[in-house]
Amino acid sequence: MIKPNLIAGSLLLLAAQAIAITSQFIPKRYIVEIEENHALFARDESPAHIHKRMHNYLEARGLRYETRHEYGSPGVLVGLSLTIKDESDLHKLHSIPGVKAVHPLRMLQIPDPAQASSSIAKREAYAAYDPKNAPFTDTLHAITGVDKLHAKGITGKGIKIGIIDTGVDYNHPALGNGYGEGHKIIGGHDFVGDLEDLTLPLEPDNDPMDCQGHGTHVTGIIGASPGIAPFNLTGVAYDAEISVYKVAGCGRNTDPDATVAALIKADQEGNDVINLSLGGPSGWTGDFQSVVASRIAGKGRIVTISAGNEGLDGAWYASRPGTGEDVISVASVDTPRFPLQVVDVGGDTPHDPIPYFDPLPLTNISDKALPIYAFTNDTMEFGCATLTDAVPNLENHVVVTRTGSCAVSDLMENLSTKGAKIVFLYSGTPLFSSIRQTVGDFPVPVSKIPREAGEWLTKQFFETKEVTITFPKGGRLVNYEQQTGGLVATTSTYGPSFDLRFKPSVGAHGGEVLSTYPLAKGGYIVIPGTSMAAPYLAGCAALYLQVRGNNADIARQARNFFESTSVMVPESHEENSMLQSVTSQGAGLVNAYAAAYTETYVWPGELLLNDTRHFRGTQNFTVKNLGSKEKKYDVTHIPAGTAITIQPGSIQAARGPVNLTDSYAEVELSSASFTLAPHESKIITVKFTPPQGLDNKTLPVYSGFIQVEAQGDGEEEKVHVSYMGVAGSLFDQKVLDDTDDVQKGLNFPAIVIDQQEDGKLIAQKKATTFEFEGNETFPQLGVRLAFGSPQFDIEFVDASVDLNKVIGSKIPVVGSLFNNQTGMPRNILASPNTGFFPFSLNNNVAFRNGTLVPDGTYKILVRALRVTGNRDNLNDWDMWLSPAMTFKFNETARAAFASDSDDKNVDTPGTRSAGSLLL
Ligand SMILES: *[C@@H]1O[C@H](CO)[C@@H](O)[C@H](O)[C@H]1NC(C)=O
Ligand SMILES: *[C@@H]1O[C@H](CO)[C@@H](O)[C@H](O)[C@H]1NC(C)=O
Ligand SMILES: *[C@@H]1O[C@H](CO)[C@@H](O)[C@H](O)[C@H]1NC(C)=O
Ligand SMILES: *[C@@H]1O[C@H](CO)[C@@H](O)[C@H](O)[C@H]1NC(C)=O
Ligand SMILES: *[C@@H]1O[C@H](CO)[C@@H](O)[C@H](O)[C@H]1NC(C)=O
Ligand SMILES: *[C@@H]1O[C@H](CO)[C@@H](O)[C@H](O)[C@H]1NC(C)=O
Ligand SMILES: *[C@@H]1O[C@H](CO)[C@@H](O)[C@H](O)[C@H]1NC(C)=O
Repeated sequence: MIKPNLIAGSLLLLAAQAIAITSQFIPKRYIVEIEENHALFARDESPAHIHKRMHNYLEARGLRYETRHEYGSPGVLVGLSLTIKDESDLHKLHSIPGVKAVHPLRMLQIPDPAQASSSIAKREAYAAYDPKNAPFTDTLHAITGVDKLHAKGITGKGIKIGIIDTGVDYNHPALGNGYGEGHKIIGGHDFVGDLEDLTLPLEPDNDPMDCQGHGTHVTGIIGASPGIAPFNLTGVAYDAEISVYKVAGCGRNTDPDATVAALIKADQEGNDVINLSLGGPSGWTGDFQSVVASRIAGKGRIVTISAGNEGLDGAWYASRPGTGEDVISVASVDTPRFPLQVVDVGGDTPHDPIPYFDPLPLTNISDKALPIYAFTNDTMEFGCATLTDAVPNLENHVVVTRTGSCAVSDLMENLSTKGAKIVFLYSGTPLFSSIRQTVGDFPVPVSKIPREAGEWLTKQFFETKEVTITFPKGGRLVNYEQQTGGLVATTSTYGPSFDLRFKPSVGAHGGEVLSTYPLAKGGYIVIPGTSMAAPYLAGCAALYLQVRGNNADIARQARNFFESTSVMVPESHEENSMLQSVTSQGAGLVNAYAAAYTETYVWPGELLLNDTRHFRGTQNFTVKNLGSKEKKYDVTHIPAGTAITIQPGSIQAARGPVNLTDSYAEVELSSASFTLAPHESKIITVKFTPPQGLDNKTLPVYSGFIQVEAQGDGEEEKVHVSYMGVAGSLFDQKVLDDTDDVQKGLNFPAIVIDQQEDGKLIAQKKATTFEFEGNETFPQLGVRLAFGSPQFDIEFVDASVDLNKVIGSKIPVVGSLFNNQTGMPRNILASPNTGFFPFSLNNNVAFRNGTLVPDGTYKILVRALRVTGNRDNLNDWDMWLSPAMTFKFNETARAAFASDSDDKNVDTPGTRSAGSLLL
């Protein structure tokens, strides 16, 4: 089969661009799911027995494989995860008696916090530390009502929370300083071991110690005990019993089948709330991990999952497993302020103290006034080039330089040769963020300062003005204000899903959060992302269960309660700002107190209107008075901005922040005002008219809220149901990119045969013969999906096939390369990483069933089914046919390759049916 991984040769640009996309696919690894009620199995056949049968069957057929996990949770998943030695054995997995599906695996990542920090341009002011100022978590808890729950003694006691992440440093004093029965962290499991490379054999054990940091931060947001110096962090549910399931090694990749195993274990060990701060682009509710997470939620666990940090990549990019139908996907809202350290500036020109991105002072630094030494691009590439004798010993200086010319670790190594003792880095962009999470430990203490401060210091240095830096003894903390506080983080991922469900569900604070960090890495850190928002909601869910009752029915109502009571978030702080689209904020920013105590229940929380072709414009919802007194209700329509999700005049998704317009839907209510006695309920019918006058090709996503306001003798209450629809047709949106938007003059799909000096790719234009000697630059097939596709296939067809003459609904296929790929995410169009799928056509090229492609003349057919299309109807597919390609393979080079069986068929995995496939 074709190799969608990197090739040697000159197509470097193509290769580099591909990484983000191909890393989703993991070769040779599959989850085999068994149909539990299959006639082959006895009524009460145990999962263990079924596993044994599966192994016997596979062994009897000579399959070479390793078992990674055995899943035995009836109702959720019974099956095996396997690594097969040879991709061509895939069909044997499909032939296991009673098999329901064979799922390919895609990588899941801990969302990148560096990516999540880009709304920074709007951070400016900082207030001197005032002990009367609320400490960090108190500020957030006052906004979300968690403070009022804590004041009532609601702290998560008796609720069990499972955290699926990179582990936890349970020796942290704020996290109970211990592990096991009787401690805050009562248990957990390590599914992987302390690996960087998850392709190595896993090293599971029962000790989920965190070597990465992320999981410790997440755990602190939920569980940090108050009263612990220096920050007195107060976790949202600090009396909950926490178990931590480690599914990542020391890097950012998580093991996808371990994540499934962890979900099952977290459920089976009785966790009432399960949090996953991880994900990957998808857009599809039916993604396998999403389905497992949703099944567990459906059983009555509250499953909270981060929405993703890809907001800048625009709409239609919802992250799995947060796409799961019954899970709660959590968007990130920027915090109003967070604590940082400052240094004082002395010398010729007065300057305000400069903040550096650490909540704790850098250690082992002199408290004397230190001169600076600055690098620019002319002075040894910001310190990345070899440091010459012109550079003095830097021991008694504060080194100021910029990121970007080399890896920070290399820069630090380099500067340490001059004895540097402290380095301040600034970014060439407005990015001002923490450094620790991404780069780990360095030989020299280093921190980030704002760009303006870095550029100002550099200017002083080169103008030979005297300037000194003094680190206040014992440190000095300030509250750093974010002007974007209370708005959805620009990096929080946009939905909706391609089946027009509501993702994300709700928002919580994630945009720069102070929490615990492994002691070995300093103990505390400020980092951003939806990874930080999801655990905040998990904590709120525990408080909700403690108030309303800890049972499966209450758990299943949780998303409705959280969505209906959340606080609507505006697009900006400008006066008369529109409300942010629900595809970004979900139903609003969490209000934990209201979710736990509101006496008005409205359901369903989401009115899903679908698109113009499948419009469901009349919808009902029910209002119930849960209180003990009569309530009078008023119902009103509050629209949110309509998101223009496809760039006008184009087929490409709009980049973030996605533009909003104030063309709103119109709403007719069956009743706008009524009274309900205690425990009485009423159905309200809402008739929607989509916004008019918009370009339906831009797929405008309109949304908003139907607010129900109760006036009683007690406090007034406001709850809402949220609605969302598309004023266009998803079916009419082109899926397979046939434009030259990526590179002028080169339309995708393309057979890329060369690359110019300036990096431009050259495509095959006419019938061509390729002779494979083994040392030349191979052609690559480049394909982009402008929009998600329910099914995607690449096949070799006979050279005589002509798309204009396809009669009936079948195209004869010679062999498949990459077929039956279901639930494909769209590619991104973000410079400089212009995502597309590359496939190398070289000596190894083989059909999906493992047979090498023989010499001959072929065309390549690429087809992608449109959203809501019928796979049996050729007209519902976007198709492309390559020019004729004659292949002449070098048998010696091939033989050498074939004997190296481990390299053979290195490839995209991923099909549900083996062998070939006809339409
Ligand atoms: C720590 O924070 C809690 C509120 O979360 C507060 O009640 C307590 O007084 C604080 N303790 C200290 C020492 O400031
Ligand atoms: C180097 O800096 C000069 C100004 O100091 C600027 O004009 C030039 O673009 C910079 N070059 C690079 C590669 O950043
Ligand atoms: C919207 O309609 C499509 C096509 O019928 C369907 O597949 C999808 O599930 C619908 N979405 C919702 C939320 O009803
Ligand atoms: C809405 O509720 C009414 C009863 O109040 C019922 O007649 C109608 O069928 C419902 N409509 C939908 C779309 O469920
Ligand atoms: C968003 O709005 C700005 C300002 O009106 C406009 O320049 C830009 O083209 C719009 N972008 C998209 C993707 O619609
Ligand atoms: C989109 O708008 C055009 C022009 O108004 C109209 O002809 C077409 O039917 C619309 N398509 C859909 C799917 O609504
Ligand atoms: C590739 O190998 C062939 C045969 O060994 C040789 O003739 C040819 O020059 C080589 N081409 C390149 C680009 O190295």
